[in-house]
Amino acid sequence: MSDDRRLSLAPMMERTDRHFRFLLRQITRRTRLYSEMVVDRTLIHGDPARHLDFHPEERPLALQIGSADPGLAVRAVQIALPWKYDEINLNVGCPSPRVQAGGFGVVLMRAPGCVAEIVRAVYAETGMLLTIKHRVGLDDRGDYSFLARFVETVAAAGARVFVVHARRAWTAGLDPRANRTVPPLEHAKVYRLKRDFPELTIVTNGGITTPEQALDHLRHSDGVMVGRAMWDYPWRWAAADRAIWGEERGRDRRAVLERYEAYLHEQLAKGAPLRALLRPLFNLYKGEPGGRRWRQRLDAALRAGRLPAGGLVALAPGKVRA
Ligand SMILES: Cc1cc2nc3c(=O)[nH]c(=O)nc-3n(C[C@H](O)[C@H](O)[C@H](O)COP(=O)(O)O)c2cc1C
Repeated sequence: MSDDRRLSLAPMMERTDRHFRFLLRQITRRTRLYSEMVVDRTLIHGDPARHLDFHPEERPLALQIGSADPGLAVRAVQIALPWKYDEINLNVGCPSPRVQAGGFGVVLMRAPGCVAEIVRAVYAETGMLLTIKHRVGLDDRGDYSFLARFVETVAAAGARVFVVHARRAWTAGLDPRANRTVPPLEHAKVYRLKRDFPELTIVTNGGITTPEQALDHLRHSDGVMVGRAMWDYPWRWAAADRAIWGEERGRDRRAVLERYEAYLHEQLAKGAPLRALLRPLFNLYKGEPGGRRWRQRLDAALRAGRLPAGGLVALAPGKVRA
């Protein structure tokens, strides 16, 4: 098992873009980062660089794709190969109506043979072994045997890494947001997978909010993936390298801001919008004294269309400037 899977940032549409990932990379050196999902046809018909470009510092980095068709998946992966992502992951967990209409995401859990076919085809044509992100079940199939059969079938095609969102998805009646809160968390099912398939790498996801909780889950699974708690409280994960990997060196928020600011100027010069570059920073002091003021100052910088003299450090709440 690759050690840097012990903690990862979950793929999140409109959240885990390259700028947020770059910021998080300054906060934790070891955490594996996942991109937003990119649909196969978007890569095939769109501008791949727009979706695939990243900064080398972001590694270890995974690209997540959405696909329900072996041929399209192969073409999408072939397009992505030159970027040399450390991993390509297939989305078998998203219940959004748009994704369901495309026949991919969580509805593919009902078609493990199709997922297996995608894994086989992509490996045969590109040498890339897809990893899979899925749920513990969907709709009326909340039984463990359904989950185990899915994993067994896809593993028989060669897949080795399964990231399991420990909530069942409801394909009707719950919107994607409610699908991340209403169905109860069932981490015990993920642990059971690890016991039943010890040779596979099983990563657990869903409702994990602190590095301490992550450590707890690591007693029963190979890795932990965190989504919302990394977006909402990015600085909390400055403790992750030490807590999860026993690394001594802690993170210094001033150094993080300085590095991010240099990156921001590089990216502005390449035409990235200021809004996209400032957005990842808004929660950096969330829940701390001065956190609201920081957001207001960032908002003001956005309205002004530029950073003030003194840059990001000058906007930071008092103590952090020291
Ligand atoms: C805004 C948002 C966008 C998401 N987009 C994706 C996505 O593109 N692909 C995916 O597999 N999961 C997506 N998810 C689900 C997360 O990857 C994760 O499985 C889920 O949020 C549960 O983890 P958490 O409780 O740590 O947030 C998204 C979640 C959120 C909140």
